[in-house]
Order: sequence, then structure tokens, then C-alpha cells
Amino acid sequence: MADGIYFVVFPYLAFFFAVFGGVYRFNARRYTFSSSSSQLLENRALFWGSVPWHYGIILILLAHLIPIIHAPLWIWLHREPLRMFFFELAGAALGFLTLLGIFVLIARRIFNPGARAVTTAMDWVLLAALALQVLAGFYITFFYRWGSAWYVYTAVPWLRSLVSLNPHMEYITPLPWVLRLHAVNAFVIIGLFPFTRLVHVVSVPFSYLWRPYQIDIGYKKSREEGQPEGEGISRRNFFLKAVIGTLSAVSGLILLVPYIKAIISPAPLKKTEWSKVGDISSIMPQQPKAMNFEMESVEAYMHHMALRSVWVVKESGGELKVFSPICPHLGCHYRWDPGTGHFECPCHGSVFSITGTVLGGPAPRPLDTLPFRIENNILYVKWERFEVGIPQKVRI
Ligand code: FES
Repeated sequence: MADGIYFVVFPYLAFFFAVFGGVYRFNARRYTFSSSSSQLLENRALFWGSVPWHYGIILILLAHLIPIIHAPLWIWLHREPLRMFFFELAGAALGFLTLLGIFVLIARRIFNPGARAVTTAMDWVLLAALALQVLAGFYITFFYRWGSAWYVYTAVPWLRSLVSLNPHMEYITPLPWVLRLHAVNAFVIIGLFPFTRLVHVVSVPFSYLWRPYQIDIGYKKSREEGQPEGEGISRRNFFLKAVIGTLSAVSGLILLVPYIKAIISPAPLKKTEWSKVGDISSIMPQQPKAMNFEMESVEAYMHHMALRSVWVVKESGGELKVFSPICPHLGCHYRWDPGTGHFECPCHGSVFSITGTVLGGPAPRPLDTLPFRIENNILYVKWERFEVGIPQKVRI
């Protein structure tokens, strides 16, 4: 019940508030949509916060959006270990940039009296939600590695199901709490949209991404009277650059440690082990269930905990079948439609029966089954992946 509120009702409510609240505010107080209302870039602290923040968040949002729009492309991009390295490293670096940006922006609002004076209660709520989101994302990057690869099999099908008005929360509900928090908090931020300075997104001030910070001459004269012109600025400027540069270099080195370790002593590509999926006693005959689980995996020559999911089907005779969740056409995640009693792939319309046979669409073979065993009603599977787009079931 609570899951239904968090992962179905709340996302739609947040979207409703964002659209209708945004339209109402635009009509009632159109001038507040301008980014200048947030005093964007009126001083250095804002520059050092705003630029890393905007660069980081725009690229991270893009990386979240592309798999929703074109999952097969994203899956293809992650098939090579080298490309996975790139995405993992880029994600961690952008996460750090965004974290740095949001903390500078928060610090500025706390310590700069002018900025503090124009910060509303809702702005603080928004900053807290953004900081929480970035921190959770950063945590996920480090403790659930290869997020850009498994995201496409977990949150993406859930988000696509919301967009198609056919919500399937079973993709997201079994995930660890921090991932669930990250998902719900994203909709909190969307819901806050019309009530905060987030509305400036609509005015898309891209020029701020390359425009240098500006100095208010009156402000400069009054604050720096008695000092040789520019001396205080350049000293502080140098200090700020040194701090940010050092922080970036240190964090970059920390991020590189596991990758360097992987290059020096790559983890052996060992044989697939059994992974514990969960209790299957509640699965009803003819009612397929998506089950998510964590497994130790070796990808791109590194050990890590990966999130996986499978479809479990109990046939009327009580016999079990475990399907890989990956569509054999081009690798999207398919879902079960209880209305039609079929598995359906949203990408190109392949349809499969409850036993996995192809009923329609471009899928070249039936759904791929996975080896499994059961002990005391607990299901264990051997996770395997297969080539997509060909009639034969060939293990990768
Ligand atoms: Fe094309 Fe599933 S990926 S139908």
C-alpha cells in the first residue's frame, strides 16, 4: 500500500503540481520566471557554485533521460568494458562536480547576508532536497557500482511505465532503500518546481555556463576600500581556485583507485555463481512476478555488487520458470500485462506468452530462461546474458 503511494500516486501528484502550479505561477507572476530573480552570478561564490552545479546536473539529467528515451542505445553503449569504465568514471566525476556546486551554493546562502535575505523558506526546502538527491546519487555511484548499466533495467522500466500511464512499481520496490529514496526525492523536487526558484529552468539561461562571473562595482568599492584595486579579489580568487583544484585532484585520485587496481590486477572472469533471489512461496500460479536481487559480479574486470531482476512464473502444475528480464529483440525490459495475460515489450511491441513463446512483434526467439534451484522456498538463479537480435540463444 505504502509503496503504491510512493511509486505510483506520488509521482503523478508531483507531476500534476509541477505542470498546473507552473502554469498558474507563469500567468500570475510571470516576472518571477526570470533567472535574474535568483541574483544569478552576481558574485564569485555564486559563480563557483552555479557553474559546477549547472554543468554537473545538466549532464547527469541527460544521462538519466537518454535510457528512458532510447533504452537499446544505452544498453549497446554499455556492452564494452571500456565504455562502461568511461560512463562509471564520468558519472562519479559529474557527481563530485554537482556535490561541490550545491555545497558552495548552500554555503553562500548561509554566509552571504544579501543572498540570505532573499532566500525564502521554500528555497531552503529545495536546497535540502537537491543536496539530499545529490548525496544519495553519490552514495549509489560508490556503493552500487555500474549504476548507468543497471539503471536501464530497474528505474527506467518503472519510469517508462509511469509515462505510458500503465504504472509498474514492481521494478523499483524491491531495490535497496537508498535507491528508493533517490527515486521518490526526484519527484519531491519535481513537485517543488512551481513554488521555488527552480522555475528559472524554463527561462534556460545557458549563457551562464560560459559567462565569467560579474563584479558589482558599487559592492566592490564599498567592501574593498583602502585596498589596492583588485588585490583582495585576486588573492581570494587564487585561494578559491587552489581549494577547488586540490579538492578536485584529491577526489579524482580517490575515484581512480579502484580502476587502477583493476588494471594492475584485474579480477578473474570466474564462472557464474548462484545468486539468492528471494522467497517464492507467495507466487501464485499463472501470475508472473518480477523479483530483484543483488549479486556479486565481475564486470569490466572489477568486482562489484550489481542489481538484477528476473521474471518468475509458476505454471498451473506448480512448475517454475525463471526468465531473464531482457527482451531478446534488442535488449529492452519487457513487462507482464495482467489484462492481456502476456509479456509485452514497450520498445518495439514484441509480445510473449506466459511460457515465453513469441506471439507477435520482431523478437527473433522466445524469452530466455535462466538456470535456477530452490531451497526451502528460496529461489537461487544463475544470472546469464545472451546475444540479442538473433534466433539462437547464445551466451555472452
Ligand atoms: Fe525490441 Fe523488445 S527490444 S521488442
